[in-house]
Amino acid sequence: MAGPVPPPPLAQFAGSPTRRFYTGGKLDRALGIDDLRARTHRRMPRFALEYLEAGSEDEATLAREREAFGEWRFLPRTLVDVSERTPARPILDRPAPMPVIIAPTGLNGVFQEKADTALAIGAARAGVPFVQSTMSNDTIEQVAAVAGLRHWFQLYVFGPDHIWQALVDRAAAAGCEALVLTSNSQVFGNREWDARTRASETRPSLATIANAAGHPRWLVTTLGHGLPSFVNVIGFVPKDHHGFFQSAFWIREQMPKSLSWDTVAKVRARWPGKFLLKGILNPEDVKLALAAGVDGLVLSSHGGRQMDWAVAPLDILPRARDIVGDRMTLMLSGGIRRGTDVLKAIALGADAVMAGRAPLYGLCAGGADGVERALAILHKELCDAMGLLGISRLDQLGPHLLEPMRAL
Ligand SMILES: Cc1cc2nc3c(=O)[nH]c(=O)nc-3n(C[C@H](O)[C@H](O)[C@H](O)COP(=O)(O)O)c2cc1C
Repeated sequence: MAGPVPPPPLAQFAGSPTRRFYTGGKLDRALGIDDLRARTHRRMPRFALEYLEAGSEDEATLAREREAFGEWRFLPRTLVDVSERTPARPILDRPAPMPVIIAPTGLNGVFQEKADTALAIGAARAGVPFVQSTMSNDTIEQVAAVAGLRHWFQLYVFGPDHIWQALVDRAAAAGCEALVLTSNSQVFGNREWDARTRASETRPSLATIANAAGHPRWLVTTLGHGLPSFVNVIGFVPKDHHGFFQSAFWIREQMPKSLSWDTVAKVRARWPGKFLLKGILNPEDVKLALAAGVDGLVLSSHGGRQMDWAVAPLDILPRARDIVGDRMTLMLSGGIRRGTDVLKAIALGADAVMAGRAPLYGLCAGGADGVERALAILHKELCDAMGLLGISRLDQLGPHLLEPMRAL
């Protein structure tokens, strides 16, 4: 199957009438994240879409992330006064208008120039944190300069220790509030659809080049200043590997397959702020994390891009909450497209969620304004769904308001 996994079948009328998402440029006419996604698909060249959408191998993990949400239904209460309601909820002990964070995504420079700065501006306007990836194409300092931003940094460990130490120190000096260590990506997931856009490791295919040439606006706004560079780490890359693809593959090869809880302890000891581990999907690892002194966990399959046929974060969320109790912050990342997804995650034990593709669709549809629009859509959907469910505050949520659709 080429391209993205389609959204789960909802109430459609077998093709009649023909329905279309809004793909125009008036962002306030984008009613749902799917409108922003449809505009993204109109605007971006195919290789950028494959990078954005692809999962690994058969994309079974990717599909499961959405399916898992479909297996829970609400038990809405009625005749409850919901005239004053808010999805506000603290994130890492600081107030936030909703429990949503922009997840780290690398290489956003293929979508537009200064993409991470745009994501950060959208996040700051919405009052939610933004996690900048190690593989960002904007410098840590450029993003840190965005006024009012809750700036977090995501760390990939690669090469000798001095590299991650320098990155951690730089993130601390830039005032980052939290460090997110990604633990599940030392072996690179087999993303065939992404790889098929290249003729070799270092060369796009002719079809990719021809398709990109058919997107002149993207060419000007994205490649107008040359290919994006991994600016925060390029200084550690040997000069003969500074090319775009060469540097990406070189870094990938330097990621130690021996990453362990010892590394976690070393990073913990060096980082002065809040420290989260991202990429956990097994309850045994949740238990080990408790002993490792981390402040929180992000249950995640990397957006279905790493181990195929894995469970979805939502599948293990209730068990993970049972294990950690109130001793640790628990977050989920994977499959968030609607306010109701956020509600289900919170009801099943998450303190907050990290959304990856949803804000990226906003970015591709309309830069920082599009990111802000994506977050506003999630906020509005959350408020509306809370009212429909009969709650006024998120602490009223719980499994008692959900019904599993299969034996769990
Ligand atoms: C294009 C793309 C790039 C990503 N890059 C990173 C990364 O650099 N670091 C990381 O920890 N996770 C990365 N992820 C995983 C996201 O942080 C997040 O967990 C995932 O996208 C969640 O699923 P969702 O897209 O359905 O919200 C990436 C995901 C995507 C889609």
